[in-house]
Amino acid sequence: MSTIPLTQPQPTAVRKKVTTRVFQQKKQRQEPITMLTAYDYPTAVVLENAGIDAILVGDSVGMVILGYKNTLPVTMEEMIHHCKAVARGAEFSLLIGDMPFLSYQVSPAEAVRNAGRFLQEAGMDAVKLEGGKERVETIRAIVSAGIPVMGHLGLTPQSVHLLGGFRAQGRDAETARLLIEDALLLESAGCFSIVLESMPSRLASLISHRLSIPTVGIGAGAGCDGQVLVTHDLLGLFDRFTPSFVKQYAHLHEEMGRAFSSYIKEVKTHQFPTEEHSIDMSDEAWEELNREADHG
Ligand code: KIV
Repeated sequence: MSTIPLTQPQPTAVRKKVTTRVFQQKKQRQEPITMLTAYDYPTAVVLENAGIDAILVGDSVGMVILGYKNTLPVTMEEMIHHCKAVARGAEFSLLIGDMPFLSYQVSPAEAVRNAGRFLQEAGMDAVKLEGGKERVETIRAIVSAGIPVMGHLGLTPQSVHLLGGFRAQGRDAETARLLIEDALLLESAGCFSIVLESMPSRLASLISHRLSIPTVGIGAGAGCDGQVLVTHDLLGLFDRFTPSFVKQYAHLHEEMGRAFSSYIKEVKTHQFPTEEHSIDMSDEAWEELNREADHG
């Protein structure tokens, strides 16, 4: 029997599009939901072939791809650009576009228009936005327009200055209670799922039990209904820092460095390109060219 490489596409007959309904069914069946970020076509293809449930085009693109210090400078145009690339590479995963800073905070009407662009222009299936009770009206408006919304509670990176840094949330009883309240409000506002970022595992587990919609955790322990990581953290591709809750499944930063150094060395020492990587010309064509050159 032949072995199938892990990233081999599954035959389309057995592949079904993951929808928000599938998210709900997975929670009911207690089947963990898998989600990772992508910002480009090749990563989307590999994730899809590996069988991921959902791809988040996160505004983390600002940090891990565009080199900003935080996610605040990311614009709608940048998000749409990256979402389009991901949508070209993934057909079956649930595609979620992250609404950037100030694209949904100003007014519900502006939020609906911007959320609509993720579906209409960028090929996404849903949007994600950060915040609790202060977002209820906006979430209701977006959902009323027929756009599925994923919430995001706990460490919400767009509020990094308000939170006083990238720090875990809900570590005391008072703030934990507020997060539980927020989660229940987001559920009743119509969110199909909520990301819980960087909070005590016990709290995330309690919230996951209290909600009928699925939670997807990042730095929130094993009691969530699903897990998400920033792909560049998982691959060891982001050089600046790695949050303590990240498990690195590869060390691609070093691996890329090794590949680039080898290339530079081989070009400098004439080891690359060899015949194998060069384009051939037939003797006949070569002779004809030389005859023409002699007569020219
Ligand atoms: O932008 C992002 O990648 C995210 C994840 C950390 C959930 O919001």
